[in-house]
Amino acid sequence: MSVPAAKTGGPGEAQARHVAIIMDGNGRWAKKRRMPRAFGHQKGVEAVRALVRGAQGLGLEVLTLYAFSTENWRRPEDEISDLMGLMERFILSDLEEMAGNNIRLKIIGDYKAFKGELVDLIEGALTRTAANTGTTIAVALNYGSMDEIARAATKAAAEGPITPETIARHLDTADLPPLDLLIRTSGEERLSNFLLWQAAYAELWFTDVLWPDFTADHLKQAMQDFATRERRYGGR
Ligand code: FPP
Repeated sequence: MSVPAAKTGGPGEAQARHVAIIMDGNGRWAKKRRMPRAFGHQKGVEAVRALVRGAQGLGLEVLTLYAFSTENWRRPEDEISDLMGLMERFILSDLEEMAGNNIRLKIIGDYKAFKGELVDLIEGALTRTAANTGTTIAVALNYGSMDEIARAATKAAAEGPITPETIARHLDTADLPPLDLLIRTSGEERLSNFLLWQAAYAELWFTDVLWPDFTADHLKQAMQDFATRERRYGGR
């Protein structure tokens, strides 16, 4: 597998190309306000909207957002249906603005497991933004890293020997630049089956901020921290 070249210059030079976020803490945000979890998720979508708008000026090529994991099916049915409804409404309300802002949408994960109308809306959004050349917003839907790696390994095995390169070529992220920075909100410090392969050399950034309170300024701060870190990829 090709490992990115180590930084040659001093600190303060690296511009993150690909940032991913584990958006955590909607439930706790709502609980603190004695509101239902659904309200927290609704505010979580508003944070997504504001961040997508605010990310425009940050020079990012890709922002990957963990919206629904393969493990999220274990949540109560009404919460799952709230999340699906929020995603439908988000596409309906925000697609034209995103398309007009040159955003390309991409999905990682097996989104075809969702119900038909949502799959159709997602595919319409992918087609609508496919030719755009600005920031790619990659949304992880029914995504689990172990599932992704198993799917990629199956495809690689059908073609010949399994190597890191042949697996990487079949990951859902194969067409994206290497992951530079992985952010998790809400004080939790684990990867939760998100981009395990891609995070091999990523910088990790954790914050206590709950997802609904996360803004483009926090993203900017994480990217500024990233710029000062020295990445050695196992070299020295
Ligand atoms: C984690 O908070 C959040 C989720 C499981 C869902 C994240 C989804 C969104 C923010 C909406 C995504 C929508 C679009 C349009 C991309 P939690 O419920 O686990 O919070 P808790 O740990 O405090 O209970």
